[in-house]
Amino acid sequence: MRILFCSDPMNRREVDADYREEYECARNAGFKVDLINLEELIEGNPVRAIRSIPAADNVERAIYRGWMMKPMHYELLYECLKRNNIMLITDNLAYRNCHHLPESYPVIKEYTPGTVWLHEEDLNDSIKLEQALQCFGQSPIMIKDFVKSQKHHWHEACFVPDASDLNHVQRVLEKFLELQGTGLNEGIVFRAYVKLAHLTDHSISGMPLSKEYRVFYFEGQPIFLVNYWDEGKYDETAPQLSAFNQVAEQVNSPFFTMDLAQTDSGDWIIVELGDAQVSGLPDHADIENFYTLLKRFFSAHS
Ligand SMILES: Nc1ncnc2c1ncn2[C@@H]1O[C@H](COP(=O)(O)OP(=O)(O)O)[C@@H](O)[C@H]1O
Ligand SMILES: [Mg+2]
Repeated sequence: MRILFCSDPMNRREVDADYREEYECARNAGFKVDLINLEELIEGNPVRAIRSIPAADNVERAIYRGWMMKPMHYELLYECLKRNNIMLITDNLAYRNCHHLPESYPVIKEYTPGTVWLHEEDLNDSIKLEQALQCFGQSPIMIKDFVKSQKHHWHEACFVPDASDLNHVQRVLEKFLELQGTGLNEGIVFRAYVKLAHLTDHSISGMPLSKEYRVFYFEGQPIFLVNYWDEGKYDETAPQLSAFNQVAEQVNSPFFTMDLAQTDSGDWIIVELGDAQVSGLPDHADIENFYTLLKRFFSAHS
């Protein structure tokens, strides 16, 4: 089993500095580690991107741990590795499924805030926008694209107190689009805002932080649970996972994350799913333990 990390953009022989600790912990846990050049992949050159990885004689499984990439780039990587007998355990469809919220929404619907979306080409159509927002009435909403929010610009580019105030929606949307720039992922999702249990305000951006956890699932089982934020006092017990584990069994991906948050009334909701290959570990996470557990679960499934 190999784990593929991104190389340093300035030196393709070195791992990206932000993943150095993960790279070392993965190797110490017994994984083979290799480097890919993400910049070349994104330029559309997967052969060059993986040229430092020796082709395998027999099929070998691999996972990627690194920066997020668009599904089209993941597909390039997946296909190119496959030609070298290296199979990412997550196929193209599974990657898209957990990376884009509208894809996973049907599976998590019962446990996550109500969500509607518009594709990029429909964003300038004010009738479609108004229709999409009707289901929220005058309730508050939050805005993000199919993958990411601008949560640290909470009031300017994320939160709208009244979904029927179209001018306000347009203003927040414009700011969001400006901040995303060319990085926009497919379109916009609008989500019912749910009051979450307040943890603290972010020390830099001031964004309200709530009690959130990130759970890594491997082959349908929760293998690692971590406090999502590096700040704030998580004095409560972690969420009961049994209902969420049942949802996890329906998710079409062997390796994904589920972010859970506690609401003001004490219930737990799913905030979003993510592909676990590109889901970050918070700074305080026990990375050594993460890779030790991953190795144990991989070995049990191979
Ligand atoms: N529907 C919601 N209601 C209230 N707060 C939310 C909602 N969705 C997300 N949040 C808050 O906003 C943050 C960012 O949202 P999220 O969907 O996780 O975006 P990102 O992909 O940028 O992390 C979450 O960590 C959570 O604190
Ligand atoms: Mg998030």
